[in-house]
Amino acid sequence: MTCHQNRSFLFRVTKATADSTFGSQLNSQPNFSRLTLDDSAESCLVANMHTNAQALDEVIRQRRTLKMLAAEPLPASTQREVINEVIAAGAWAPFHKPSSSTHRGELNSFVPWRAYALDAAACRRLREKLIEVGDTTKIVQMLAAAEALIQVTWLPNPAKSETDALFEPTLENMEHLAAASAAVQNMLLTATARGFENYWSSGGALREKLVFDWMGIPATEILLGGIFLFPAETDNVETAEGKLRHKRGDVETWAKWIS
Ligand SMILES: Cc1cc2nc3c(=O)[nH]c(=O)nc-3n(C[C@H](O)[C@H](O)[C@H](O)COP(=O)(O)O)c2cc1C
Repeated sequence: MTCHQNRSFLFRVTKATADSTFGSQLNSQPNFSRLTLDDSAESCLVANMHTNAQALDEVIRQRRTLKMLAAEPLPASTQREVINEVIAAGAWAPFHKPSSSTHRGELNSFVPWRAYALDAAACRRLREKLIEVGDTTKIVQMLAAAEALIQVTWLPNPAKSETDALFEPTLENMEHLAAASAAVQNMLLTATARGFENYWSSGGALREKLVFDWMGIPATEILLGGIFLFPAETDNVETAEGKLRHKRGDVETWAKWIS
């Protein structure tokens, strides 16, 4: 049996293997405790996991900022199915504390982030809206090229006292923001794996009330990023990489073992 033919067989593992490999959740399924793996199937399992790890490492390294700028709108194809997969990856980010119940409106999840997606056609409509109000920034050109824009917000706890700050500098808010960032990274990696060029923008005009109102984003939420997904094809459009991509230095410049 080849590894490929054996995908379903590989999941019929012994309790011991399941314990060490997948954790107790899988083990709670009764069928998984009876069958044993022969040596070749076990080595397939290990080989598959190794291949998955390498594939994941590769996607992490391949993720890059690439802005695409078009003077005139590119044809607006709708790829909602695949973009839904990108958004759904956000769901699996870790989060430490539930969002404040004051944020539970139409989108009523416990997670401290929210996502609002525009497909290509909606990006072009937002572009028109921004042009109407005199916006001449690169956001307009990116909306002309994007396959999708995902506005990711995070949900700060309501401030306990009067403050002019964007949010109170509490540990919980830091963790909400961190969790939302993990959700964004999941989306970027998933987008990369599906062949979308992508760009995490601070937002510029996308932070403005005009855009929040147009998209129906509650004013209590803070934009963490405008996540642009662009086509893989870069012909006939201007592109720009992230300025800091090659400035991060070696791992040794930001991590060390403590002995
Ligand atoms: C929170 C956040 C906000 C960002 N906002 C912008 C932005 O507004 N403009 C920009 O050019 N790049 C922005 N970037 C992208 C960075 O410039 C980019 O990640 C960096 O240059 C490293 O390149 P890489 O993403 O290809 O590794 C942002 C990145 C993050 C994490």
